[in-house]
Amino acid sequence: MSIQPKETNQICQTNSAGELTHLLTLEGMPKEQILHILDTAQQFVSLTDPAREVKKVPLLRGKSVFNLFFENSTRTRTTFEIAAKRLSADVINLDISTSSTTKGESLIDTIDNLIAMQADIFVVRHSVSRAPIGIANHVPSYVHVINAGDGSHQHPTQGLLDMFTMRHFKKDFTKLKVAIVGDIVHSRVAKSNIYALTALGCTDIRVIGPESLLPNDLDLLGVKVFYSMEEGLRGVDVVMTLRIQKERMVAGKVPEGAAFFTQFGLTPERLALAKPDAIVMHPGPMNRGVEIDSAVADGAQSVILKQVTFGIAVRMAVMSIVVGN
Ligand code: CP
Repeated sequence: MSIQPKETNQICQTNSAGELTHLLTLEGMPKEQILHILDTAQQFVSLTDPAREVKKVPLLRGKSVFNLFFENSTRTRTTFEIAAKRLSADVINLDISTSSTTKGESLIDTIDNLIAMQADIFVVRHSVSRAPIGIANHVPSYVHVINAGDGSHQHPTQGLLDMFTMRHFKKDFTKLKVAIVGDIVHSRVAKSNIYALTALGCTDIRVIGPESLLPNDLDLLGVKVFYSMEEGLRGVDVVMTLRIQKERMVAGKVPEGAAFFTQFGLTPERLALAKPDAIVMHPGPMNRGVEIDSAVADGAQSVILKQVTFGIAVRMAVMSIVVGN
């Protein structure tokens, strides 16, 4: 998979007026831009009401959205497809496993061929960090690129739907205490959440995990580091647990699931250390009995499936905004 190095260097996701034309990262995204996306998503939430007969709006009629998932996905790929269809776009899901990528075609050649088919939006998931940035720097200005998760770098729409969920249940970010638990070092979700929470004024962001799974530069971002659930979870409003990203680890260095659960699994007893009305979040996919107990995942404080539903409205907002700009 070749991405020309010069194309991966700069992140440029706005036009000369500072408006979003791609969505590549939440790092450096101003508070106003995040709130604009959340407010736009709020307008789309009523469309996701199961009672509503017609769930479509014509905002992307005549546009083609190409889902390019070079890594597996259930939630992100499907909710992007639903979101695009609700905006009346045509959606093409390229099956990478049967595409000419398997015959050695480069990523940029694939992109050029899809542009020749009149693609308007590329939704890209890739195991190589910053691959969507290389694509965004390559495409003509009328084509938009949305990062659907790149390596251990960023997962901006997940970060945005997590902000939407926290705002829905907790309102004021400046008063929130948020704990993110588990494999932070490999997690693009954790990074997108930390940047977004910081931009929105959250001053108590905690990460909890074993030393081997925590990056050593978190204090630069003002994040508090805990190596014990019993210390880190006390009094928090939000607990977000994360999967161990085995696919990004060196063989032989993967933590053993049962041992991880003993120290860092989110059990009802540990959740009781958080505020009584704390919410439990997880981006999915969950590994029950490793990072989270089923009693918590399916419990009254879990908003995990609400995150998934809100993801549709947030992705509708992102696609309509980048095209509108
Ligand atoms: N949260 C998330 O990215 O899930 P998927 O891998 O299923 O898309």
